[in-house]
Formats: sequence, structure tokens, C-alpha cells
Amino acid sequence: NGMDCCVWEGITCNEDGAVIEVHLASKGLEGQISPSLGELTSLSRLNLSYNSLSGSLPAELMSSGSIVVLDVSFNRLNGDLQELNPSVSNQPLKVLNISSNRFTGEFPSITWEKMRNLVAINASNNSFTGHIPSSFCSSSTSFAVLDLGYNQFSGNIPPGIGKCSALRLLKATANNIRGPLPGDLFNATSLEYLSFANNGLQGTIDDALIVKLINLVFVDLRWNRFSGKIPNSIG
Ligand SMILES: *[C@@H]1O[C@H](CO)[C@@H](O)[C@H](O)[C@H]1NC(C)=O
Ligand SMILES: *[C@@H]1O[C@H](CO)[C@@H](O)[C@H](O)[C@H]1NC(C)=O
Ligand SMILES: *[C@@H]1O[C@H](CO)[C@@H](O)[C@H](O)[C@H]1NC(C)=O
Ligand SMILES: *[C@@H]1O[C@H](CO)[C@@H](O)[C@H](O)[C@H]1NC(C)=O
Ligand SMILES: *[C@@H]1O[C@H](CO)[C@@H](O)[C@H](O)[C@H]1NC(C)=O
Repeated sequence: NGMDCCVWEGITCNEDGAVIEVHLASKGLEGQISPSLGELTSLSRLNLSYNSLSGSLPAELMSSGSIVVLDVSFNRLNGDLQELNPSVSNQPLKVLNISSNRFTGEFPSITWEKMRNLVAINASNNSFTGHIPSSFCSSSTSFAVLDLGYNQFSGNIPPGIGKCSALRLLKATANNIRGPLPGDLFNATSLEYLSFANNGLQGTIDDALIVKLINLVFVDLRWNRFSGKIPNSIG
């Protein structure tokens, strides 16, 4: 009941009266996400999780020069993620949670190359297709969490994941990923949590390689087509 949006429920402003946070999780929101949110030039956190929002994720939010945390998980958003305009660079986005929606299509590869500050992406429980992207880590040295589970990603595990020196969690459970665990993967020695359960991976698990992952706490490789022995070194 007022014109000053800074006192509205779920809105936080800074001392200058600029909106810095919109937290409207679980409010029963329906309809599309307004691209105008991208015009809030001080907005750093946008959380619209657990609503019934539909339509696409406006490109304005991904290309925002201020959003650091974007959580639209548990909605009904659909369509492809759009490629960022090549002119934008050095995006501040650190955390992107688009999980549990109805997104389709391939992951836009150029977009991630612009994201030099990314720390976490949760894209699980959608209908993404195509190859697992691997450009995250060559762009962002602090990239730590990648959850791609419950999608339709296919192809082999791409080379380049070994460059992810800060990657702690890699989860691609329940996709159509094939081929071997590439040697390069075992160069990501910060990995604590690794799951490729329920895919079509094959080959053996190399004794000399798995032992390189000295920080591993959790490994789930069930429901694949691996052969050979469980490596002794794993203990
Ligand atoms: C968004 O809000 C939900 C519900 O309050 C919370 O569980 C979730 O952690 C928030 N997301 C982020 C990125 O903080
Ligand atoms: C979405 O993912 C981010 C990063 O992993 C996490 O902080 C946030 O809590 C998640 N949101 C919900 C609603 O679980
Ligand atoms: C990603 O989001 C899903 C829900 O959409 C959740 O079950 C899963 O634990 C999240 N992954 C991570 C790494 O937080
Ligand atoms: C997957 O998304 C659907 C629809 O949003 C949701 O009902 C379901 O709980 C999600 N599953 C997981 C494992 O998060
Ligand atoms: C792993 O890293 C080492 C040292 O940087 C490098 O020599 C080696 O080629 C990498 N292995 C693979 C399979 O990429």
C-alpha cells in the first residue's frame, strides 16, 4: 500500500533508495519474469524460486551488470537459454540456479566464456541437450559447483574439466553421457563430490588416476557400463 517500493515485502534497498535485493520465493507468482528487472542497476540478488513463473528467462537478467546471485529454481520456465550479446564482458554473476524448470536446448557456450566470476551453476532437472559444456573453468578460476543432473546431455565428458582447479562438486547424474572417464578429469584435484550415476560411461577406472583426487569424499558411478575392478587405490 505505498509508492515507495523499498518498503514492499521482499524488496531491499540501499541507503540511496536503489533496489539491491528482490526475494520473492514461494509467493505463488505466475506469468512471465519481467525483463525490466534487468534495469535495476543496483540489483545484486534476485530470488524467485518456488513459484509458478513461466516463459523464458529474460536475457536481460543474464547480461545484467549487477546481478551476482540469480535463483529461479522450481518454476515452469521454458525455452532455450539465450546466448549473451558478444559485447558484454566480465559479468558479475556468481551463482545461477535454474534447476527444476523446463528449459530445453543446448547450453550457450559463448555466454559462459563471459562469466569470469561464476562459482556455482545448478541446471539440474530440466531438459537440456547437447554436450556438457567445459568452458566454465577456462573463464572462471573460482568455479566450484556444477550440477547438470536429470537432463538429456549426451556425448563424451569433454576435455577441459581438468583445468577446473577449484571445482568441488561435479554432478551429471541421469543423462546420456558416454565414453570413458577422461584422464584430464583427474586433474581437477579439488573435487570432493563426483557423480555420473545413470549414464552410459564405459571403460575401466584407472588405479593411478583416481588416486590423484585426494579430496574426494563422495563418488557415485553406478548404473553405467564400466568394466574391470574397483581400483585398490581408491581407499
Ligand atoms: C532463495 O530462497 C530460497 C527460499 O527462501 C532459499 O532456500 C534459497 O537458498 C535462496 N537462494 C539463494 C541462492 O540464496
Ligand atoms: C540454488 O542453488 C544455489 C547454489 O547451489 C543455492 O545456494 C540455493 O540455495 C539453491 N536454491 C534452492 C531453492 O535450493
Ligand atoms: C540442484 O537443485 C536441485 C533441485 O532443483 C537439488 O535437488 C540439488 O541438490 C541441487 N544441487 C546442488 C549441488 O545443490
Ligand atoms: C524436478 O522438477 C519438478 C518440477 O519443478 C519438481 O516437482 C521436482 O520436485 C523436481 N525434482 C527434484 C529431484 O528436484
Ligand atoms: C594433468 O596436468 C598435468 C600437469 O599440469 C599435465 O602435465 C597433464 O598433461 C594433465 N593431464 C591430462 C590428461 O590432461
